[in-house]
Amino acid sequence: MGDSENITNQSNLFSTAPQTPPEGDKPAPKSVRKPSHPVTAAEMAKRQREISISEFFTKNRHLLGFDNPRKALLTAVKEAVDNALDACEEAQILPRLKVAISKTEVEDRFKVVVEDNGPGIVRNQIPRVFGKLLYGSKFHRLKMSRGQQGIGISAAGMYGHLTTGKPVCVTSRTGRNKPVSYYEITINTQQNEPQIHKEEVVQWDVEHGTRVEIEMEGRYIRGRQSVDEYLEQTAIANPHTRIEYANPDGAQVVFEAATDQLPSEPREIKPHPYGIELGMLIKMLEETKARNIKSFLTSEFSRVSPKIADEILKTARINPTARTSRIARQEADTLIKVIRETKLRNPPMDCISPIGQEQIIAGLKKQIKADFYTAVSRSPAVYRGNPFLVEAGLAYGGELDTEGTVRLLRLANRVPLLHQQGGCIITQGVSDVSWKAYGMSQHAGSLPVGPLVLMVHVASVWVPFTSESKEAIAAYPEIEKEIRLAVQECGRMLGSHVRRRRREAEENKKRSYIEKYIPHIGIALKEILDLDDSATENVCSTLTCILERSRG
Ligand SMILES: Nc1ncnc2c1ncn2[C@@H]1O[C@H](COP(=O)(O)OP(=O)(O)O)[C@@H](O)[C@H]1O
Ligand SMILES: [Mg+2]
Repeated sequence: MGDSENITNQSNLFSTAPQTPPEGDKPAPKSVRKPSHPVTAAEMAKRQREISISEFFTKNRHLLGFDNPRKALLTAVKEAVDNALDACEEAQILPRLKVAISKTEVEDRFKVVVEDNGPGIVRNQIPRVFGKLLYGSKFHRLKMSRGQQGIGISAAGMYGHLTTGKPVCVTSRTGRNKPVSYYEITINTQQNEPQIHKEEVVQWDVEHGTRVEIEMEGRYIRGRQSVDEYLEQTAIANPHTRIEYANPDGAQVVFEAATDQLPSEPREIKPHPYGIELGMLIKMLEETKARNIKSFLTSEFSRVSPKIADEILKTARINPTARTSRIARQEADTLIKVIRETKLRNPPMDCISPIGQEQIIAGLKKQIKADFYTAVSRSPAVYRGNPFLVEAGLAYGGELDTEGTVRLLRLANRVPLLHQQGGCIITQGVSDVSWKAYGMSQHAGSLPVGPLVLMVHVASVWVPFTSESKEAIAAYPEIEKEIRLAVQECGRMLGSHVRRRRREAEENKKRSYIEKYIPHIGIALKEILDLDDSATENVCSTLTCILERSRG
C-alpha cells in the first residue's frame, strides 16, 4: 500500500500533464490527500534514532534466507547443522548428528530439533550465542568454516519467535563431569540482547554436545530445494558425518558415514596484504599491539618477512621504526599502493581443507547410483588476497535420467547451496565449458543435458557470497577460472569414458551381427567345400572362439 502511494506521488511529480484541473472540471474528491507541509530538520531529528541489527533483520528477513515458510524451514535446519559440523570439526570429533522435524498441533508449524555430539557451549555463552545477532567465534578470523557472520542460529531462533511466539530451547554439555545446561531464550530485538525465559540444570544422557529446538512456521516439501536434499548433499560433501534424520512424515533416514577420517583441520591465517583496503589498514594500525610499523607489517600479515617490510617501507618513504599511531592517512594510502606493487608470495595454503578426490568419489557413490565416477581437487589459488580451492566430481550413467539437465550440486565450504543457482559463479563456470567435447548435449552457454550429477565445491577462508543468506557465490574471475579448469578435467575423463562406452557398444553390435551369421557361414562353407557335419561345427566354433577372444 505504502509503495503504490509513493509511486503515484512520484509520477505526479514528474508528470508533464497540467497539475491544476482545467476550468470547468469538477474539484478533486475529498479523499485525495493534500500535500503535507515540508518537514524541517528539527522534525526529522526527532524521528532519527538507532536501528538495532535485530530490528533490521526482522524487517529484512529475506536477506537471511527466511523469505517464505518453505525456505525458512530449510534455512533453520541448515544453520543448526552447519554450526554442529563446524563445532565438531574444530573439536576434532567425528560428527554424529540427529535432525528431527515434526508437525505440531497448529497447522503449518513445525518443531525443528538438531542435536550434535560436539564440544558443547560454555554455560554463560549460551544466551548470547542464541539471543544476539552478530555474535560468534568465526567472524574475526580468517579460517575456513561454514559459518562466518555470527547471525545464523540466532536469526533462526528469532524467526521462530516471530512466527510462533516460542523461545528457542537449548540443551548443552561440555563434558562428562559437567552439568547439563538448559535455556529458553528469545532476542530483545530493540536492544539485540538475549532474554532468558528459563535457565536450569537438567539430565541428559550424552557426554558432550548441543541440542537446539526451534518451533517455527514453515512448509515441508520433498524434492528439489528441500531439507531432504540439503541433508543428502551434506552427506555427500561430508563423508565423515553420520546423520539420522526423521522427517515430518514420520520416515527415518540414516546417512551413514563413508569414512572415519576427519578432514584435516584448516589453519587460521593472517590477512594477505594484497587483500587489504585503506579503511581496514587504518583500523588495524589503531588496534595493533605492534610498537612500530615494521613489526606491524611482519606480525599482522602473512607473507611479509622483515626484508620485504624494509623494502616496502623504503619505497613508501616511511621510517621502519615509526610508531603505528603516527602513521597518517596519506602514508597509509601510499603504503597500500606500494604493497600492491610489491611481489609477495601467495598466502599459505594449509588454511584450506579440501574434501579430496577419493572422498568426493566415496560421497557420490554413497548417494548416487551411476556407472562412472570421477573427481578432481585443484591446487589452491588466490582471489583478493584470500586463498581458495576448487574441487569437482561427477557421476554418470546408471540409473540417472538421460533426458534432463544435469543435476548440479553447488557447495561452499562443504555446505550445499540450494537457491539462486542462476546467480552463482559455479553455474556460470559449468555452463561456460563446452560439454559437447565430452559427449554431452548442450545449448551454448547453458548447463549440459545428460545422465549426469556434477558437484562443484569452492572452499575458502572467506567465501564471497552474493548475500547474507549465503546462497550463491559472487563472480570473481579468478574463482570462475578455477571452476572451469576443475570441471574440464573431470569432463575430459568423462569424455574418454563415454567414447570408450560408445566404442564398446559399437563393437558389441558388430559382434552380435557376426554371431548371427556364423551358422549361415557354416552352411555356406559346408556346401562349397563339401564338409561333413563335424567339420562344419568345428569351423563355426572356431569362428565363435575368435569372436570371443576379440572381446579382450
Ligand atoms: N552446536 C554448536 N556447538 C558449539 N558451538 C556452537 C554451536 N552452535 C553455535 N555455536 C557457537 O555460536 C556461535 C554463533 O553461531 P551462529 O549464530 O550460527 O554464527 P556463526 O556460525 O556464523 O559464527 C558460533 O560461532 C559458535 O561459536
Ligand atoms: Mg552458524
